[in-house]
Amino acid sequence: MKKLFATLLTVVMILSLAACAETSAPPSSPAPADNPSSATSPAAPQPADGPITVDVFWYTFADTFLAGVRNSMIEQEENFPNINARHHDSMDTQATQIEQIQTAIMQGTDLLVVNIVTTDAEDVALNIVNLAKNADIPVILFNREVSDNVINSYDKSVFIGTDAAEAGVFQGMAIANFLLQGDNASRFDVDGDGEIKYIMLRGEHGNLEALYRTYYSVKTANDMLAQAGASVTLVPSAANETSTLYDDDGISNFFLYANWSAAEAFNLVNTALSAHSPTAGDIELAIANNDDAALGVIQALNEIGFNTGASGAPLVPVFGVDATDVARIAIDDGRMTGTVMQDGAGMAAAVLELSANIANGNNLMANTGHHNIDDGVNKMRIPHAIVE
Ligand code: GAL
Repeated sequence: MKKLFATLLTVVMILSLAACAETSAPPSSPAPADNPSSATSPAAPQPADGPITVDVFWYTFADTFLAGVRNSMIEQEENFPNINARHHDSMDTQATQIEQIQTAIMQGTDLLVVNIVTTDAEDVALNIVNLAKNADIPVILFNREVSDNVINSYDKSVFIGTDAAEAGVFQGMAIANFLLQGDNASRFDVDGDGEIKYIMLRGEHGNLEALYRTYYSVKTANDMLAQAGASVTLVPSAANETSTLYDDDGISNFFLYANWSAAEAFNLVNTALSAHSPTAGDIELAIANNDDAALGVIQALNEIGFNTGASGAPLVPVFGVDATDVARIAIDDGRMTGTVMQDGAGMAAAVLELSANIANGNNLMANTGHHNIDDGVNKMRIPHAIVE
């Protein structure tokens, strides 16, 4: 098993390197910063007397993956008696989050931990970091990525998230491995035209994880299928044009924006299914940027008798990212085909580890050498894992 994983890792590394060398990489890739900022501040901070107050602002409590991160954080907080965390629901409203941050600063807080609402406006992120900077309070931004400029604008700010491309690469590998198994390639090429027509449920506008997962999943799968000499290629289904909400951000604009939500994915796919038939081969596979959207797709497919998990029931293979508990159950039941594990507990642990640095009078990034940190910017990447 270890050997298999090591081999897979090598493949991934090669694919990632190849991906980096690609000239067709998404144009909005964040450029590495020229001037590395240091997390070391000149005046040595002192350990706090009692527990420190940490205010955590979640873009919404309604997000399934992040609810898992929050629950894990609350559980793990018990091991950190010097941290007193308060959790705030920003209810998917940026103005609410800004007010909550201002109130926490006014009432007295030792650390701000922000899961930003708006992911497509650098000035919003800069404004939040400036609020922290003006009050001389350290700030951790997490999960929803902000630009290097934002993090480098304040030496007491860090970002904790993922390597967004990695999830796409792993998802693409899962798709290719599935299609290369047995007679899957011909079985799921329902109309036998050599094209596996896929629908793509993309996260949200301006979100780097959504952009990279959308791009690298298809690219990786097609590269692997070509390398293996497979008889099929992934080609976007016309059903992706059910919505006209596109981003012209340098990647195929064949996708449906589900905003990480099962309900939105359900509505989009439910509408798409009235004009595009899986039985006729119009939709032969579904790729979702996250598991909740994948589950929305499955629910819509269930309405036409697909993906029920019953033996012999017709299936459109559906792939997600996160490996949430509900998605794992759907995979076990045969309703869903694959996912990629995003380490929510690891993300929660990293936030607490850095919070403990502040409680112990250290700098935010003290003793973090064992983590994956970007060159030149305080961005920590929690690794994904392949779900076998
Ligand atoms: C992603 C996760 C999604 C959703 C999103 C919020 O990392 O895969 O399920 O939580 O973050 O931005």
